[in-house]
Amino acid sequence: MPYSGPFQYGDRVQLTDAKRRHYTLVLEEGVKFHSHRGIIEHSQIVGMDEGSVVTSTLGSDFLLFRHLMVDHVLSMPRGAAVIYPKDSAQILVEGDIFMGARVLEAGAGSGALSMTLLRAVGPEGHVFSYEIREDHLEFAENNVEEYFGSKPEWWSPRLGDLGDVTVDDLGGPVDRIVLDMLEPWEHLETVRDLLIPGGVFMTYVATVPQLMKVMEGLRELKCFTEPRAWESLVREWKVEGLATRPEHRMNAHTAFLIWTRRLADGVTPPAVKRRARR
Ligand SMILES: C[S@@+](CC[C@H](N)C(=O)[O-])C[C@H]1O[C@@H](n2cnc3c(N)ncnc32)[C@H](O)[C@@H]1O
Repeated sequence: MPYSGPFQYGDRVQLTDAKRRHYTLVLEEGVKFHSHRGIIEHSQIVGMDEGSVVTSTLGSDFLLFRHLMVDHVLSMPRGAAVIYPKDSAQILVEGDIFMGARVLEAGAGSGALSMTLLRAVGPEGHVFSYEIREDHLEFAENNVEEYFGSKPEWWSPRLGDLGDVTVDDLGGPVDRIVLDMLEPWEHLETVRDLLIPGGVFMTYVATVPQLMKVMEGLRELKCFTEPRAWESLVREWKVEGLATRPEHRMNAHTAFLIWTRRLADGVTPPAVKRRARR
């Protein structure tokens, strides 16, 4: 799928009207886009640059862009709740997902995080996405394939329970592991067994009890660094002269992120010194 250049047949195009409403279509020969604001022939769009304006038969203007990955993630069909872009951005940087990395994720869910990981590691890397539910895996596969145009060769979506995965299944330990599932604390030993020394493990959990169970589980295993936990809050602003202010609405809570690194075998983590309580 091309990411730039003039529009071609097969491209997914986002049309935005004067009221900032979005419409998405895939350019096909001989097909017309119909709306209450008039008709646009797909052939009118082919050959135009992104950021151009096309005018319908009723004189309405539509701005034309290709879907960004974030547009795709937020509009694609979902089997399970997706990781939102503000959190996947944190996972990419804090999780140190590098070009060429071998990354394991579970569960694949709707494939939103898979897409982000796949773009970051590139064809030199590999992403293994385990999903326990067949219907969810199908959503993930369809969404990823729709975004990339075909199944990336560096992706292994697999139906299965993370708890059953062995190093042999992955052709060796992986560099990074990211979990987004209901009970990640049940799989910390699996994470330990599949991650290289120094490898980064991140998990995404929605509630405080989940957060506590993962943190305690990691500390008990004594083969990870002292875990960090945080959440990110993104507040958009309306910037219009004297009306400039934060937006009234925001996604106040999505999930907490937990981060740690795998110690080398046989190493005991240095004791964390906390201040004595008065
Ligand atoms: C919230 S969804 C993941 C969403 C995904 N990160 C995304 O961005 O689209 C959680 C998924 O974990 C799957 N799951 C739960 N336990 C699992 C396990 N033990 N092994 C593999 N997948 C599991 C569930 O079936 C569900 O689809």
